[in-house]
Amino acid sequence: IQDPRIAGISSSIRVIPDFPKPGIMFQDITTLLLDPKAFKDTIDLFVERYKGKDISVVAGIEARGFIFGPPIALAIGAKFVPMRKPNKLPETQKFPYKLVSCKEGNVIRVYIASREVISEKYSLEYGTDIMEMHVGAVQPGERALVVDDLIATGGTLCAAIKLLERVGVHVVESACVIELKELKGRERLVDKSLFVLISST
Ligand code: PRP
Repeated sequence: IQDPRIAGISSSIRVIPDFPKPGIMFQDITTLLLDPKAFKDTIDLFVERYKGKDISVVAGIEARGFIFGPPIALAIGAKFVPMRKPNKLPETQKFPYKLVSCKEGNVIRVYIASREVISEKYSLEYGTDIMEMHVGAVQPGERALVVDDLIATGGTLCAAIKLLERVGVHVVESACVIELKELKGRERLVDKSLFVLISST
């Protein structure tokens, strides 16, 4: 039986035909954000599912995963890690240390926070894109939840999962508000768990 809050969330999403291209029914979540009850219900449903599951990382995918991810992270006591479009995250410095003199007159190297960025290329309907994350944002063995507004072909979520797994993070699940079922993104995730509030054709 479906949670009674889902219907309100679903009706708050505006569907725009032929945007951004002919034939695409665009799921516009900006109208969900204008409805405080629908927005709160959305966050609450995710928080109820993930609270107490020992998740220390919520990885949100640019751009709309940045809207839903942070309130979930705060409510479950996890950190928020942005998964970004290319060339947005500051890269490793050439010399990630500074020279500091000690009392004894010796000069020592003090390493400052690493800013290494890793990238994952992924396919879109037409062409490819790149997703990036800071390696130092997570530690091997941490448990992560990946958040985005929508799954279509699944390429975006796959790239996010790959980035996290490359640095030894365990992805517990991916969570989206909407799944476009016809595009079979769930199949592309293979054995990776996916939770969605609304399935749309
Ligand atoms: C949309 C959506 C997901 C992605 C899903 O983002 O927000 O991130 O597409 O598609 P997929 O499952 O086929 O990979 P979009 O490409 O519109 O980028 P934006 O969020 O920066 O607008």
